[in-house]
Amino acid sequence: MQVALLQTHPELGAVERNLAHIRTQLSRQPADLWILPELATTGYLFADRDELARLAEPIPGPSTEALVRRCAELGTTLVVGIAERFGRALYNSAAYLGPDGVRGVYRKVHLFEREKLAFDPGPDPFRVFGGGGLRLGIMICFDWMFPEAARSLALLGADLIAHPANLVLPHCQDAMVTRALENGVFVATANRVGLEERAGRSLRFTGHSQVVGPRGEIIVRGGESGDEVLVATIDVSRAREKRITDHNDRLRDRRPECYSLGDAVRPS
Ligand code: ACM
Repeated sequence: MQVALLQTHPELGAVERNLAHIRTQLSRQPADLWILPELATTGYLFADRDELARLAEPIPGPSTEALVRRCAELGTTLVVGIAERFGRALYNSAAYLGPDGVRGVYRKVHLFEREKLAFDPGPDPFRVFGGGGLRLGIMICFDWMFPEAARSLALLGADLIAHPANLVLPHCQDAMVTRALENGVFVATANRVGLEERAGRSLRFTGHSQVVGPRGEIIVRGGESGDEVLVATIDVSRAREKRITDHNDRLRDRRPECYSLGDAVRPS
């Protein structure tokens, strides 16, 4: 299957402009699955929760409905980062969309820095969407720092982890090579580029969107600063072979009885 990543620079608060840009970019390249950055319709650096609340939308809502229509026009599917309003809660979400509508929603579990002042943390366990042809896991940006996220998705049978991102810290792209290798899955990080400046704060996003294969091989990686469409042709069945040697298997060799995965013990 063809996976395409859109590396781009959303403009803060300009939802119509951002959606129009996404709609145009999607027609540049045939793909079975597109992956777009985190908060691709709104931008990232909200002044506060009130501003986020004004821009957040339900899923389904106007932005996802417009993108579902685009999926139908182009015969594709996509994962896109959206600021989601759900009742009184505001989530940093990623919607999995197809011509048939919303196929799944993931709400970011590990909020980064001042996201904690505006968003609610995703309350749901990680899950895998779809079956048969593609089992799709989703994590968002800073989830990369918690290997439990990718591991949970692999244990649930994910073939491909879609990873919409607005990365600002170094090392994620390299860390995702390890996440792909240790779990034997494809990992596709669609990162944004550009600078956002707001109320004396500024963030530069790091680009280098990439698709990594189940043996840790970088299939495609973009540049640091420009808008780009990146394409990878992947054989999903490669993610279902977890063998390392004739005597080792990535998932079956785990020893959960030897691991501690609960609360951390912090020396006082
Ligand atoms: C991030 O999670 N947007 C760094």
